[in-house]
Amino acid sequence: MARFSLAALLFATLGASAPTGSSSTATPTTNSLLGYNPANGVVNVDTDNIQYSLAPGQTDAATIGAPLDFSNIENPQPIRGSKGGLEPGPQTPEYARLNPDRLAPPGTDHGAVKNAQWPLGLSHAKLGLGRAGWSRQQNVDNIPEATEMAGVDMRLEEGGYRELHWHKAAEWSYVLNGSVRVQAMNDNGETFVDDLSAGDIWYFPPGIPHSLQGLEGGVEFLLVFDDGSFSEDNTFLASETFARNPKEILSKNFNLPKSAWDNIPPGELFIFPGTKAPKDIAQQNIVGPGGIVPIEKSYTYHASKQEPNFSLDGGSVKIVDPTNFPIAAKFSTAIVTVKPGALREIHWHTTSDEWNFFISGSARIGIYAAANAAQTFDFNAGDCGYIPKAMTHYVENTGKDDVVFIEVLQADHFSDISVGQWLGLTPPQIVMDTLNLTNSTVSAFKHEKQYIVTNNAAET
Ligand SMILES: *[C@@H]1O[C@H](CO)[C@@H](O)[C@H](O)[C@H]1NC(C)=O
Ligand SMILES: *[C@@H]1O[C@H](CO)[C@@H](O)[C@H](O)[C@H]1NC(C)=O
Ligand SMILES: *[C@@H]1O[C@H](CO)[C@@H](O)[C@H](O)[C@H]1NC(C)=O
Ligand SMILES: *[C@@H]1O[C@H](CO)[C@@H](O)[C@H](O)[C@H]1NC(C)=O
Repeated sequence: MARFSLAALLFATLGASAPTGSSSTATPTTNSLLGYNPANGVVNVDTDNIQYSLAPGQTDAATIGAPLDFSNIENPQPIRGSKGGLEPGPQTPEYARLNPDRLAPPGTDHGAVKNAQWPLGLSHAKLGLGRAGWSRQQNVDNIPEATEMAGVDMRLEEGGYRELHWHKAAEWSYVLNGSVRVQAMNDNGETFVDDLSAGDIWYFPPGIPHSLQGLEGGVEFLLVFDDGSFSEDNTFLASETFARNPKEILSKNFNLPKSAWDNIPPGELFIFPGTKAPKDIAQQNIVGPGGIVPIEKSYTYHASKQEPNFSLDGGSVKIVDPTNFPIAAKFSTAIVTVKPGALREIHWHTTSDEWNFFISGSARIGIYAAANAAQTFDFNAGDCGYIPKAMTHYVENTGKDDVVFIEVLQADHFSDISVGQWLGLTPPQIVMDTLNLTNSTVSAFKHEKQYIVTNNAAET
């Protein structure tokens, strides 16, 4: 349908429902404003004057559902094919430009899918002391469905510490930028220290005390916890351990005079500036009778140096799971690159929810959830998302740059069911009967998992 006939149709509909009325010149009394009074006629709105344009593909049949690019569209409108209507305002077009599938969903969206996206840029930042850094988090407070995992984005300036602490949840982390020294000791008295840079990963089991310090240039990292209600405000801190035990007890515990505790911090430090870490890491390699953490139980994995498991025309997939990083017993993750126009194929995870984070680019994820519901969510760098187990989803690169994102599962190895492979390995007669497809369509289904596809048949 042409743009102008569609617009004319909408104006006609709106115009017909806007009755004319006469306006009273006398100052109205409160009572005269209550309820029906012929003097209070409505003001006519001239919607013919709304200036807007539609994005390429926006008037195509709604079930085609191609991504919409509102970046250069004046006054984006909630219209898909023959559905929708005008939005006279108020509105903030920046939201529509970041979330085109919220304003103008594909016609295949249906029913209710619980919220699956959260921009960490909308989280309240917790600012560290002395400009040493900051953190912000996502948990069940912003994605109520995200019960199995929560995330934190944290920055430490050079010398800045995330203070010595521990927590009930297991912590998995991906370094986004810069470099960091990580340090820990476990319940066997085995010690650990390592330096990591962008693309590397660490993991601390529940209860293991650790600290983090920004190296030269500082560091930004992503933390994922195996508990959706995790909060950074609810961790056990070295500072509070000392502030919350009587000095008399501390003195007995350490066999030191009470004056030893004269200058301890009165409460939490959380993130604070410190003495820069010595460049020579060996200086911080403290070894007790327990020795060091054995290599097969290492708390770090230098994933930045791992080759992708799959290098494909449309991108790549690097898998880090307990088969190559054994200590992280339940964290199975994929670092996925999807090139412009390419698609992380439609799939689902059998036993685990997926927590994800977008490192770069723009994408959309379409989720199908039983029963008979589907919704499309848009993602940009710095957004995280959550897809409950068994729900199908795809990740389509909708921008001009590579999309890089991380899928995090709670599973002993990374796995998914590819819809393409599943139906490619089902007796064709069953598929043809079920989906009313032709023999030639079904025989084009692949027998192998594709992970990422870069097909252009959608344009035919
Ligand atoms: C880290 O961030 C800085 C500043 O934005 C940038 O110049 C640098 O390329 C980033 N490094 C990585 C590995 O992304
Ligand atoms: C991915 O590659 C790593 C490193 O080679 C390997 O340990 C792991 O088993 C691979 N994962 C899969 C699912 O192929
Ligand atoms: C589909 O076509 C192939 C040949 O291309 C044929 O061998 C097969 O019997 C056909 N299957 C059905 C269910 O018609
Ligand atoms: C299957 O498709 C054919 C033609 O494309 C159509 O005539 C037929 O009604 C469809 N069958 C069902 C069960 O929808």
